[in-house]
Amino acid sequence: MTILGIETSCDETSAAVVRDGREVLSCVTHTQPEHRRWGGVVPELASRCHMEKLPEIVRAAIAQSGVGWSGIDAVAATRGPGLASALLVGWSAAKGIALRTGLPLIAVNHIEAHLHSVFLDPAAPDPAECYPAIGLAISGGHTNLFRLDAPGKIALVGRTVDDAAGEALDKAAKLLGLGYPGGPAIDRISKGLTPREGAFPEGKIHDGAICGGLDASLCTSFSGLKTSLLTRVVNEPPKSDAEVAQIACDYQAAVVGAVVKRCERALSACPAARCLMVGGGVSLNSLLRTRLKETTADRGVRLLLALPAHCGDNAAMIAGLAGMGRGIASPESFDLDVAPSWPVEAS
Ligand code: KG4
Ligand code: ZN
Repeated sequence: MTILGIETSCDETSAAVVRDGREVLSCVTHTQPEHRRWGGVVPELASRCHMEKLPEIVRAAIAQSGVGWSGIDAVAATRGPGLASALLVGWSAAKGIALRTGLPLIAVNHIEAHLHSVFLDPAAPDPAECYPAIGLAISGGHTNLFRLDAPGKIALVGRTVDDAAGEALDKAAKLLGLGYPGGPAIDRISKGLTPREGAFPEGKIHDGAICGGLDASLCTSFSGLKTSLLTRVVNEPPKSDAEVAQIACDYQAAVVGAVVKRCERALSACPAARCLMVGGGVSLNSLLRTRLKETTADRGVRLLLALPAHCGDNAAMIAGLAGMGRGIASPESFDLDVAPSWPVEAS
């Protein structure tokens, strides 16, 4: 199966052609620069920019794939979760293409696709060898931990109850005057520095009732961390770039430490787990990568990290997941609206 994938759930306009779920023939992604001046993604602006850019991105993905339209067997697009108005652009375009060409239409879950993105690395093992596994989807919009028993057999075991890890980093960077998106800036300036122990709180949940029935020890709250940074910056404004960098390094260590601790707990709760799969924009973070490598090596668990090109939002993960037989296919898909909060377990 050679599938055209389309992704427009946030501020990346992306199209890709993937063969048999894993072989990326092309992947063209445009990150909208228009949001930078606002310090965050503006949904209305995102959908307008997708609308303008998507046709040329799809054409480029088809051209670069080398297979042409005649080589495409199905069209897959992100149905959710994501920003409603942004999702509508890609999902409607996919419906239009499928109607015009007569190709099957497949609705794909964005978070499940982030987990699948690890298999776009040719060096990754066969998915069948990886289960049971723990999955971490960590991005600007999500911080979710899953237990995966088979393709499509996925259970959410932990999540953030407020800000996502990427959002927490982006907000901190804004407070520290480091620009948007903040994750990469914080990662860059923290290099070579040693975080100070206990500089920021760990993101613990104090009232398990807000975890919606999930184990509170596998959930995080990053809003307190952000408040603590705000208090710190207001009470003692950093006096030099070096001081800003040290605060950023401490903050990053608190976010990463909280996430790694929850991954460790999820792995301990699932001793049969063979792999830890990690996808999403924040999985580019160097400290997170190092810490996860250490902890999985200690446990004899295989760490599957998405290739850098497939960590952020991209359409290859959408076409890839559809190529593995996942998602909702036509004729049902033609009746579907976008689903901005579509849970992985329901897809
Ligand atoms: O997956 P993604 O492209 O979009 C969402 O679905 O949100 O993730 C974007 C997030 C942003 O919050 C950005 O700051 C973060 O990923 N990010 C990083 C790094 N690169 C991107 N966070 C930490 N370290 C990085 N190197
Ligand atoms: Zn994403």
